[in-house]
Amino acid sequence: MNEDRYLTFALAKGRLADKTLEIFEKAGIFCEEMKDKKSRKLIFVNEEWKFKLFLAKGPDVPTYVEYGAADVGVAGRDTILEENRNVYEVLDLGFGRCRMCVCGPERARELLLHHERIRVASKYPNIARDYFHDKKHQTVDIIKLNGSVELGPLVGLSEVIVDIVETGSTLRENGLQVLEEVCALSARMIVNPVSMQMERTRIQELVKKIRSIPETV
Ligand code: PRP
Repeated sequence: MNEDRYLTFALAKGRLADKTLEIFEKAGIFCEEMKDKKSRKLIFVNEEWKFKLFLAKGPDVPTYVEYGAADVGVAGRDTILEENRNVYEVLDLGFGRCRMCVCGPERARELLLHHERIRVASKYPNIARDYFHDKKHQTVDIIKLNGSVELGPLVGLSEVIVDIVETGSTLRENGLQVLEEVCALSARMIVNPVSMQMERTRIQELVKKIRSIPETV
């Protein structure tokens, strides 16, 4: 442990960072400056805890953590699985709960059952590949999209999609169904493997503090 060294955090910009700051506040860690939406500042400091925090694009968070540019990161499990970086997952923060699912029109259920060679559109090609190739042993063609993935089956780009389902309203409004569940998702805290050794006490203390907050896991 090195009390003089700043512990650096990479937080996924947006709702995940806002929720993380809420949890940090409940744990007595404050960073008022970071909550100012108008600020263009990128790095924030909490002198009391010797924490340095920065906001990054979600998919970049595991990259910062793997390379040690951040000791700790907070990102969605979807991003962590997709990026497949060399990081330790130390805590389920309990918010941002949703599911990664295979979705499509009802008629696509048959194609899944019979292991047909189908086209799968997804923002998460690695998760889709792991699921179909490694878990289901089904050969499929994966088509990477960057958003509005539900369009895939609607315009004939793919038979199904692998995507996040939260309330299910995007699916419902577009006549699509959950056909299979890939995995459960939520916000996770990840740690660089070297930082886990060098800063174990500080990290464990933080995890313990967050765990003791009633509404987190
Ligand atoms: C996500 C996801 C689904 C939708 C699911 O999209 O990709 O489209 O939310 O939420 P629901 O079940 O509550 O309807 P996002 O809003 O991130 O935009 P995107 O389509 O550009 O990825």
